[in-house]
Amino acid sequence: MDQTVAKRRAGEAAARWVTSGMHIGLGTGSTTAFAIQALGARVRAEGLAIAGVPTSSAAAVLARAEGIPLCDLNDLRGGLDLALDGADEVDPQFNLIKGRGAAHTREKIVAQQARRFVVLIDPTKQVDQLGTRMPVPVEVLPMAAAAVMRAIEQLGGRPAIRMGVRKDGPVVTDQGLWVIDARFEGLHDPASLNHELLMLPGVLDHGLFIGMATDVVVGGPEGVEVLQHR
Ligand code: 5RP
Repeated sequence: MDQTVAKRRAGEAAARWVTSGMHIGLGTGSTTAFAIQALGARVRAEGLAIAGVPTSSAAAVLARAEGIPLCDLNDLRGGLDLALDGADEVDPQFNLIKGRGAAHTREKIVAQQARRFVVLIDPTKQVDQLGTRMPVPVEVLPMAAAAVMRAIEQLGGRPAIRMGVRKDGPVVTDQGLWVIDARFEGLHDPASLNHELLMLPGVLDHGLFIGMATDVVVGGPEGVEVLQHR
């Protein structure tokens, strides 16, 4: 099945979960873009009254273009009702690798503030073990890059600074930092790696999301499958 069709189905299905009055986390990436577009259509057609917290400058640009009012997480005493976001890998326990779009730090903050964190994927993102296909992105201060890369090697990973496409030099995140992609050829203990990476001086955050997702919406040939964490 066409991956783009599956992404669209997941995104559009998740947008139907949203009701007026909600504060929504707006994720980053091509799957969530379908959800943001569908929410924008509902704002215009139904007068759906929502406010979104974008997880990246990319999500903010798209949400503004769609006419979705934005708000600041600092102004929300009650947190978010729902966060919608994509993922690069999802394991059977709903642990995730995120950050292909280098937005994982803000994505994690927003997801953590939501009562439900709904992950939107096509079936290719489902894996038995995290890290078999995708690297773990680690956001670092540029002056700490070499030290963090050495530490990642000691943890058994193969690090590489993510380089820009249509921009010379490293990718620069929305925080003005760099991303190191760490390949591990399969994570045997993602929860431990989560803590070990966070302990490294110079690391802001990384793309392992452990025990955060509450729901996974998988777009597929028969429509969508909704998986809920028990
Ligand atoms: C961006 C992300 C994305 O949510 C993730 O890469 C999935 O993207 P897509 O929906 O385009 O496959 O984590 O930082």
